[in-house]
This record gives sequence, C-alpha cells and structure tokens, in this order.
Amino acid sequence: MSESNTGGSDGKATFTRRRFIIGTVGVSAVAALGGTVVRAPRAVASGPPSGPPTTTLPLPTTTEPEQLLLTWGSDPAREVTVSWSAPGTVAQPAPTLAFSTRPITAHNPGWLIKLPDPKPLDVTQRYGEAASVSFADGLNGQTTYFYHVQLTALEPGTRYYYQVSDGAAAPSTAGASFETAPHGRAKFRFSSYGDLATPSWDLNTSGNIWHESCDNSWFAVTAIENPGDGKGAPLFHLLNGDLCYANLDVDNAPGVWRDFGNNVARSSAHRPWMPALGNHECEFGVDTMSGHPGSAAGGVAAQAAAGNYWNGPYGFGHYLSRFLLPDNGVTNWDGNRLRGNFYTFQVGTVKFISLDADDIIYQDGAANYVINTANTGPETTTTGAEIPNGTTTYARFYTGGLQLDAKEDSLVPDYASGQPNLQTIWLEGTLAQARRDPSVDMIVVFMHQCAMSTSVPGNGSDLGIRQAWLPLFDKYEVDLVLSGHEHDYERTYPVRGYDAGDFGTVVAPNPGQVKGAAVDTRRPSVVTTEPQAFNGTPAWNTGEGTVYLVLGGGGTNGPTNTYGTDTADDKPQAKVITTRNAVVGTEATGFSKNGADSVEDAPWSAAINPTDAYGYSIFDVDPGQRPGETTITFQYFAIPAVTNEAGSAHDGTTTLPTQPTEKFVFGRRVGRP
Ligand SMILES: [Fe+2]
Ligand SMILES: [Fe+2]
Repeated sequence: MSESNTGGSDGKATFTRRRFIIGTVGVSAVAALGGTVVRAPRAVASGPPSGPPTTTLPLPTTTEPEQLLLTWGSDPAREVTVSWSAPGTVAQPAPTLAFSTRPITAHNPGWLIKLPDPKPLDVTQRYGEAASVSFADGLNGQTTYFYHVQLTALEPGTRYYYQVSDGAAAPSTAGASFETAPHGRAKFRFSSYGDLATPSWDLNTSGNIWHESCDNSWFAVTAIENPGDGKGAPLFHLLNGDLCYANLDVDNAPGVWRDFGNNVARSSAHRPWMPALGNHECEFGVDTMSGHPGSAAGGVAAQAAAGNYWNGPYGFGHYLSRFLLPDNGVTNWDGNRLRGNFYTFQVGTVKFISLDADDIIYQDGAANYVINTANTGPETTTTGAEIPNGTTTYARFYTGGLQLDAKEDSLVPDYASGQPNLQTIWLEGTLAQARRDPSVDMIVVFMHQCAMSTSVPGNGSDLGIRQAWLPLFDKYEVDLVLSGHEHDYERTYPVRGYDAGDFGTVVAPNPGQVKGAAVDTRRPSVVTTEPQAFNGTPAWNTGEGTVYLVLGGGGTNGPTNTYGTDTADDKPQAKVITTRNAVVGTEATGFSKNGADSVEDAPWSAAINPTDAYGYSIFDVDPGQRPGETTITFQYFAIPAVTNEAGSAHDGTTTLPTQPTEKFVFGRRVGRP
C-alpha cells in the first residue's frame, strides 16, 4: 500500500546533463535546537522493532498536553489558532489556554480561555472560538481528542506567550511563544517541504516504526528551527501534503498521527505550520465494505450510496480533526463545510493559497489495497472492517464536476451539471481578488500532487492539474507553485500556456488507450531558459512565467530522486497521468494497478537533485520600496539521507549542510529596468 508501487515505467536512473543537476556542497554541524516545552522522544523498546505493527497498539491513558500546533487564522497579522492534543484516548478533564504578551507565570496568568466539552468531528457545523473535537477512527476503534482556540484581535508583529493545561486536579501544562505576522509591506521568511512522515523508533514518541518512518523526518523538523544559512527560523512553514502516511497503518492511524504531532511540535509550537491535503491524508472506510470503494461511478456521493464509508469526510477525518485552518466559507454540495480543505491567507505582500489537488487529479488516493496474488482475502482491520482486494480510494470531483473547454484545452467548472467544482470556482475568485488587490505583489500556491515531475519511481505529472488549474495560474500570473508527492527536488523554468499538440506517447495504456498512440498532455510551454540577475543572484521573472517547485523531500522512507531521460534524444522525460490509473484483475487472479499511462519530453525541467532525495526550502520575502517590487529569495538545502530504518544501518545522526544547493531570486520586476 504505497504510492510508489505503481510501476508503469521501465526507465532506469540516467541523468541528462542539459538540466542543472545539483548536489551536496559543504556540510557542517548544526546548532542545537532552542528550548522547547515539547517532550523529547523516548525509546520504549530496547531494540528497534522489526517493522510496522500489524495489530492495534494501545495509546496512553494520560491527559498531559502534547502535539502543540500553531496555524494562522485568515489574517496572520491578527489571528493565530493554537491546537493541541493529549497522548491517548482520554479527554482532558478541563482544558484551558492562557495567553499574554509576557511570559505566563504565577504573577502573570494571562487571559484564560476555557474549552467546552468535546464533540465528535462534524464538518457541517461551524467551530466556536474555542472547540474540543473528538474523532473515532473507524478502522481501529480508537478515539482521540483535539483542542483548538482561535485567537483573534492580536497585535501584528508581536510575540505572544501561551500555556495550555489539561485542567486535571494536578494539572499538566505545556506552552511556548509565537510571533504574529507583520502588518503591511514587510520582510519575512517562510519555509516549505512536503512528505514529512514520522521519525523512526528511537526518535518517535511511541517507540514504533510505521510504514514510512525514517530518521530524516526528525532532521527535517530540526532544520526548520535552524536553517543552514544561520539566519534564523522562518515566521511560518508550508507543509505540502503527505503529512505522516497514517493511512498506510490502518490499524494504528491515531498512533502515527501522534508521532507526527510530537515531531512537528518541536517547531509548530513556536510558529505556524500550514498544511495542504495530500493523497496520504485520505483514509479508508469505517465499515464492512462491499464492492470497491472509490470505484463507483459518480463520485463520492455515489460511492457512499454504494455502501462505502470513509474515515471522516472524504477520508480526511484525522486531518480535519487536527487542523482548524482559515475558513474558505465554502459548503460542499453534500452539506459538508469545506473549511481547511483549501484556504488562503496573506503575509506582507504575498498571497498564499493552499489547494487540495485530490479533487481534480486523475490519479487516485493513497489508501490502496491492491494485491497481485490470487485469492487474496479482504484486509480486515481491528474493528472488523473488511477492505476487499482491489480497493483504491478516489476523491476526484468531490467538490463538484469539471467539463471540457475545447478552446483552452482545459477543464472548467461544470455548471450544466448543477454541481460545478466548488474548489475551482473558489480558486478563480481568490486569484482574481488577489490580482485586484494593490497590497498583493506575488501569489504562492502550495498543494501536494505535481503538474510537472520527471521522477521515474515517483508518480509523475498529472494532466488533471494542467487542465483544471494551470489555465488559472496562467491567467492570474501565479508566481510560484509548490508541491510535494515526489520524494525529491525538481524546479521548472518559468512556464506560461501550453504547447498545442500531442506531445505525449501512451506507454502503459489504461482502458480506452492504445500503446504507442500520441496523446495531448497539455505540456506547459517554457518562457525562457536563461535567468536574469538581481543584485548578483540569478533571478527568474515570475511575471513572465510561473515557476513550479517539487519539494517532497521532507523525510519519507521512500525516496524517488531518479529522473527520466528520453534515451532517443537525451532530453528530460516525464511520466504523465492522462487518465485514471486502471485497477485490473479479480479476486481469483489478484489485482494490479497501472502506473502513469504516458510519457512526454519535458523541456520545462530546469533542475533536479539525483544526489539527495531530502531537503527543505527557505524563502526570504523582501517587499522592496514600492508596490510591485517584491522579491522572494529562494534557497534549497539538501539533507543527506540518514537511514532507511528498516535495515540495520540506523544511526539517527547527521550533519545538516550550511550551504544551499540552489539559490535564486523570484520577482515580477527582476531583469526589467
Ligand atoms: Fe508522499
Ligand atoms: Fe503523495
């Protein structure tokens, strides 16, 4: 059950020299982390476990606060949401939050907010200013609790101290401090990666190894608190989906989420972490399922009608319980509010937009039970849920449909159906508003799956993103699009529009396709391959074309940093998913799932990193002197692979490079007089 077992390509790792191939430069020891109240991990096993547990492991029954998590509200200069949890399956007796602009002490108790009794996750309802949410995992039966306080009317650019308590007779507390975003045109730093996963056994709170556990996940968080250039931690972090891969551990998803929560809390207690939904946030159903969930025609509603049940709305129950994100105000056709599925916020002169590409991609979700062995029975979880062989979650069009617009070779909201795609409508409205707003210079989109990727063992480029959203990114001149999904690094040249014609070739046909046939991949069109210069640093003018960055090197156990080359012409080559990956077979024969169906030459690929799969990105925003002058200086720091924990090579240590492997300036005025 992994996204990387899709096959469908016979390419081996060969690297074109026409692209800029980056590699590790200098390394040196990283400074120790600053103080944090979040507990250090503890090894509860005397030796490394042999692998992911196959039964449900009990969670603690204590209530001390942990997994501290900050996120921005809609206005980061004034709104911050403080979230936390407890170790296990017991609600905190009387949770509270205190906050103040001075440290919380006996003499300065701060403002005190008491939280209400917990209610089960119900996304049809609005959250109050303070909310306690419980979520019952339908696959393993464990109920966990999450606490959220939405702080509003804060002062911009101000440090606040906070302390949360479980309210027990002998209370347990935890706390830290954070800084609100600056007001108006101001410099700031943010960071990003996706595909974080969880550390392995001796760095995890639980002492367990989960399916994607890897020590790099630990060092990725360490790096955000101490970026390699020594210029300090960012104001906030963007986490581009595939947070912890809990959907691969169907018997222990709450435990996996807990280890994720405690790992990121080493940073997210001190600064907001803003996530995007990825395919590994989509979890299986909760009941004895007949048929194949996700394969019913007609989308999520039809799947539910067919007797399929999901672990929370669209499988996102754990995510939506844990994160209380800026409200987009959109209610889905089925009555669910879509708060947190996609959202926007602005810091300084940059508009940030988080999208859920699960809604528009051709490829499926990552909760798959596809076993190519004859007569494989259902996967039965500890609640008795039975997941039949051949099951693949599929959430495409869960906010409504798209239809072809032949003129633009694109997909647009399908109004004729009566249920047009709400996320795409919201996206266009948000982009249009941003470009009308004189306070916005640059637009940064972050999401999980990729419009452009040349990874060979990874998933590939998804035509669905190119058809639905690239026309909007072009029209409204989005500056940067960050993704994860591929566990590697890739940067494109600025692209605008598309190369009309059939630039793809079918190599692994899905039903209805013919091997060797030409296929229209709506290949993005390169604007330029020559950078400008900005104060001596290579620079790309993102007013001329959008730059796409694949930043999926957070720390999973499955790096995918080998990249495709067309051996016929030595040019970069990408896998492209142009139709849904077919799941073929029967229970009697076993099932298999097709990988990406097509390939294309990929002149848009500007840089790859075959040396290191892992890394993090630092972005320094400078608003310049006048409107329109904003620049973003981008540094990519590779992180050496620490270990693949399943083997005996575990060491749990590494040194983090102090020199970036790539550095560029992005801006809309660079290169212009
Ligand atoms: Fe991933
Ligand atoms: Fe992914």
